[in-house]
Amino acid sequence: MQFESAHSNKGSTEHPSALIFDSGVGAISIAREIRRLLPGLTLHFGIDNGFYPYGTKREEELRPRIVAQASRMMARCGADILVVGCNTASTLALPQLREALSEPVVGVVPAVKPAAAATKTRTFALIATEGTVNRNYTRELIEQFANGNRVINVPAPELVHLAEAKLRGETVTAADLEPVLHRIFHTAGGDKVDIAVLACTHFPLLRDELDRYAPRPIQWLDSGAAIARRVQWWLGELQLALPASPGQSQLLTSAADSDGRIALAFAEFAPRAQSMAS
Ligand code: DGL
Repeated sequence: MQFESAHSNKGSTEHPSALIFDSGVGAISIAREIRRLLPGLTLHFGIDNGFYPYGTKREEELRPRIVAQASRMMARCGADILVVGCNTASTLALPQLREALSEPVVGVVPAVKPAAAATKTRTFALIATEGTVNRNYTRELIEQFANGNRVINVPAPELVHLAEAKLRGETVTAADLEPVLHRIFHTAGGDKVDIAVLACTHFPLLRDELDRYAPRPIQWLDSGAAIARRVQWWLGELQLALPASPGQSQLLTSAADSDGRIALAFAEFAPRAQSMAS
């Protein structure tokens, strides 16, 4: 059956699809949540490995880069929805992406609101890339939704690299995580933290290790399930019905995946890989 989409100028196929965009394997944490809720949705991946990591780049160079790469990957795969599976990109470029694309754009918002509602100690940590932690968007989100709770901002750029390493099959140890855990628990107010917001899509991939090596149990909260629900809402808006099983996934990379590590990391989605390096 064919459906017409009010927001897309290309019409949809019998396999509605979403492109999940990120600098690296963070797209996987979002894809797993979407697949759980919407098993029939075809998932494509747009990985800007040519500009990884995003978290340490300057806003002026990152914003146009994100818009250009996400737009050309959307054009290449013809997805119905763009999911920005990256907090660093979402907190920086959502308005520009929405202006550039005719398809709906779903962004990741750090889970400040749910953390503020759930904390019992009135203290939670927000762990993210340096870019996201320092962003006006994040500050405003905290001002608006932290509800007077104490928020400890924790930049953790090394977790991005550790998540990439884990997906390449490397083991993440207690010693690897110690500096980040120290920044969460051994800072002023750290003894009261009962929730850590994982405000980078790479971080849920390390949830087991963070849980195992933390000095005491806390809740590690991410936005993946909320993103999946938002995608589901958009499918309804676009009147796109899902088949029982998804179509062929595509894995688009901005630079060559010369050692095949990206393809290996995304293997669970069995994508057809294609480099868009010119
Ligand atoms: N996955 C990313 C995020 O959610 C970006 C990681 C990076 O490239 O620094 O922020």
